[in-house]
Amino acid sequence: MAHLMTRRTKFVLDEDRIPRAWYNIVPDLPVAPPPPLHPGTGQPLGPDDLTPLFPMALIGQEVSGEAEIEIPEPVREAYALYRPSPLYRAHRLEAALDTPAHIYYKYEGVSPAGSHKPNTALAQAFYNKQEGVTRLATETGAGQWGSALAFAGVYFGLDVKVYMVRASYDQKPYRRILMETYGSEVVASPSSTTNYGRRVLAETPDSPGSLGIAISEAVEDAATRDDTKYSLGSVLNHVLLHQTVIGQEAIEQMAMADEEPDVIIGCTGGGSNFAGLTFPFLGRKLRGQADYRVIAAEPEAAPSLTRGRYTYDFGDTGRLAPLVKMHTLGSDFVPAPIHAGGLRYHGMAPLVSLLMDQGVIEARSVHQRECFEAGVRFARAEGILPAPEPTHAIKVAIDEALAAREAGEERVILFNLCGHGHFDLSAYERHLAGDLEDYEYPAEAVDAALAHLPTV
Ligand SMILES: Cc1ncc(COP(=O)(O)O)c(C=O)c1O
Repeated sequence: MAHLMTRRTKFVLDEDRIPRAWYNIVPDLPVAPPPPLHPGTGQPLGPDDLTPLFPMALIGQEVSGEAEIEIPEPVREAYALYRPSPLYRAHRLEAALDTPAHIYYKYEGVSPAGSHKPNTALAQAFYNKQEGVTRLATETGAGQWGSALAFAGVYFGLDVKVYMVRASYDQKPYRRILMETYGSEVVASPSSTTNYGRRVLAETPDSPGSLGIAISEAVEDAATRDDTKYSLGSVLNHVLLHQTVIGQEAIEQMAMADEEPDVIIGCTGGGSNFAGLTFPFLGRKLRGQADYRVIAAEPEAAPSLTRGRYTYDFGDTGRLAPLVKMHTLGSDFVPAPIHAGGLRYHGMAPLVSLLMDQGVIEARSVHQRECFEAGVRFARAEGILPAPEPTHAIKVAIDEALAAREAGEERVILFNLCGHGHFDLSAYERHLAGDLEDYEYPAEAVDAALAHLPTV
């Protein structure tokens, strides 16, 4: 018997709808972004300060005031391997929660690396290749960014060295193997291959590592070799810019669903998947064309937006990277080894911090165990196993859906399911066995780290 589907689960765009330009939020901001400063002199950075680390095209994007930046055709072609990514209506999760809310999620786990990270990795590899660079150095927290850059490196023909945070290196051997399969070299950070890594190991031989430490190692690597540039998977303006393909597609897909979101949610480590989904919507909000509540979901173990200070700080622990104005817990704060390795960062993207400071977005911090519970609930309803990072967004989305039930309101909720958790099964195993810990907000460690803030 013919069966007519009366409701739609997936909203899928054709390949020619891959965006042609990235959206730059800077001209729509209520105030101008404070400039990055030189880590040695404390003076505003000039392009020359960044050339040892980045190709000129990316430096240009970092400081651009243009509303749109055209996506080069070879990058769009690479995007076509997995973009446009699908938008789903979470009918089964809605039913499981018995909520009148309509829940949508943009699924970035369809990329070869399994997350949103290739959106910028491919662009960065392209521009480096175009300017004659042959090797990239980077850090990775969860292993997702390292996998993305390893994939982008082999796609555009660049060697890649990845400094993988020790805690993740031990938790996720298969991420390392994926990166090595793409042809990259991977070491656990702190490593003995850089001066900074050796210094950390001498002081703390059993250091779990952190993104801040791994960034210092990768920056040192790039700054001390002529053939190498540095590549960062989050935080910087050009990284957030590249991620805006997510939100631009989502705007079209929400229109296909004939709905406007009331609430938009993303998890925040350095802020890139959050910005990628929300900035195109926030542009509309800032231009007075629409209104949304926008919520950043962060871990209680590294709550930079909810508990950090909005001030100039170093982006890395070794104090080699530029000073940027952001919400920070102090650059030598090492977050507890939660399984959402991509969220273990002391700072936040300056653009996201500015929006928080201006009251344009909200933030909420959540504990590890309630996030894994939300992740399991989501997997049992929708089938997709989320990476530990987006379980933070799922937890907040579920809370919002339950609040809508309480209020008896049909709210529309959109969140970014920015990666799958197929390489995070040991974390799920520990969760299912009841072995995962919650880490209380480490007030003393944060106070100690904030006492070392630079004076500018
Ligand atoms: C799947 C996933 N989500 C989120 C993040 C956090 O980064 P960001 O805040 O830049 O999206 C990471 C970082 O590694 C990640 O791998």
